[in-house]
Amino acid sequence: MKFLVTAGPTREHLDPVRFLSNPSSGKMGFAVAAAAIRAGHEAVLVAGPVSLRTPRGARRIDVVSACGMLDALKREIASADVLVMSAAVADWRPAECSASKLKKSEMDGVLRLVRNPDILQSLHPLKGSRFFAGFAAETGDPEAEALRKMRDKGLDMIIANDVSSPGCGFAVSTNRVSVYCADGSRTDLPLMRKSAVAARIVKMICALARGREAGCRSR
Ligand code: PMT
Repeated sequence: MKFLVTAGPTREHLDPVRFLSNPSSGKMGFAVAAAAIRAGHEAVLVAGPVSLRTPRGARRIDVVSACGMLDALKREIASADVLVMSAAVADWRPAECSASKLKKSEMDGVLRLVRNPDILQSLHPLKGSRFFAGFAAETGDPEAEALRKMRDKGLDMIIANDVSSPGCGFAVSTNRVSVYCADGSRTDLPLMRKSAVAARIVKMICALARGREAGCRSR
């Protein structure tokens, strides 16, 4: 199968040297792409600005902003079987982006923002029989929000992490996640290295995607 995986933050520039972003390192998404390759699949990584080495065998497309990430995914989605959105996409961007560095005297301390597109919702019309998985970054018990996001974004799976818990979430090498599937199942994984979390996620996606294929064939 072909995995399309997003990783890292997006940057929403105000001018060439200032931007809104978040602390995503890309480790979780890169681990998913590497796990897919280890399991014998193809992987295309759409990465925000991160300083990680591309996993051997993956094709990498670098992007900066949420809109740039959406454009890259629109180009790639037709040939993918699975989309895993591990990127921490900024929900808002500055209403204007200056081509040259703003002078302090030109800024009045008020930043006007506009909504970024929701990437998963924007890609939903192109989903067809593809398997879509998202992540939910929450602080505290993530279940209610994760289930809401899975429903609102039309996902087959959502992987929830409590990013306020030690060793979990942004910019660390470990994670503890709960995996919710559209069939109502929930799997809690213990705190482990992101590479091990990614291997479990890839295995679960493959089992569900293949089960669905077999179901289609037998109908
Ligand atoms: O990169 P690391 O340092 O390893 O950190 C990993 C991680 C914490 C970034 C990762 O595990 C994680 O939780 N990623 C999702 C972060 C996030 O943006 O969550 P969210 O709950 O805001 O978004 C829910 C889902 O919608 C996500 O799959 C997100 O990619 C997607 N989304 C969000 C906003 C947007 N405009 N469009 C989207 O498609």
